[in-house]
Amino acid sequence: MMPTLKTKRLTLRPFTLEDSATVQKLAGDKEISSTTLNIPYPYEDGVAQIWISNHEEKFEKKEELVLAITNKTNKNIMGAVGLKINKDFNNAELGYWIGKEFWNNGYATEASEKIIDFGFNKLMLNKIHAHYLVINKASGKVMDKVGMHQEGYLKQHVVKDGTYHDIIQYGILRDNYIKKVKNG
Ligand SMILES: CC(C)(COP(=O)(O)OP(=O)(O)OC[C@H]1O[C@@H](n2cnc3c(N)ncnc32)[C@H](O)[C@@H]1OP(=O)(O)O)[C@@H](O)C(=O)NCCC(=O)NCCS
Repeated sequence: MMPTLKTKRLTLRPFTLEDSATVQKLAGDKEISSTTLNIPYPYEDGVAQIWISNHEEKFEKKEELVLAITNKTNKNIMGAVGLKINKDFNNAELGYWIGKEFWNNGYATEASEKIIDFGFNKLMLNKIHAHYLVINKASGKVMDKVGMHQEGYLKQHVVKDGTYHDIIQYGILRDNYIKKVKNG
């Protein structure tokens, strides 16, 4: 069963098909697609349904955990956070997006902190990594704030809408995370 996780302001819970229209509206903003590598623009009808309907099976196969970022008080969906797991290497890639109207409230940071904790303490991962396009300063800030460290700078590593982009690679190891939590 996919978990539901709580933070001070958020409930991170599995998406349901009823969330499809909201996902399409929030993730369908061009500014979400423009700094991510796997969110399409335009975000066509039916894409959210297919995405959501795969989550349970992917979690059961220990391939991926994707959760909706919702406001604990009013229950509104604000975004998504996930771990894409590599079982062979016992690591996972952290990913997230937040609907534009909710940016700069610390939600991506709060959700990421929680799913990282779940990744290390429940999934027993050895490492969590993430990357962002250099132009995406806000995402870099999130990675800093959750205690990840820069591991690499990859020049013109990806193409987005016909333009080559540098990406910055971040990571955090289980041992360092446990030490950090212990030391407060
Ligand atoms: C990246 C993203 C998830 C951040 O979500 P968020 O909830 O706004 O993030 P937070 O509020 O937790 O933190 C954002 C930080 O970036 C800072 N920031 C925002 N825009 C910035 C900019 N242009 N330059 C520098 N810092 C910036 C904010 O001030 C904040 O830092 P602070 O807490 O020190 O003030 C959101 O912008 C988003 O969904 N973007 C589109 C999808 C995407 O890029 N996903 C990540 C792919 S790697």
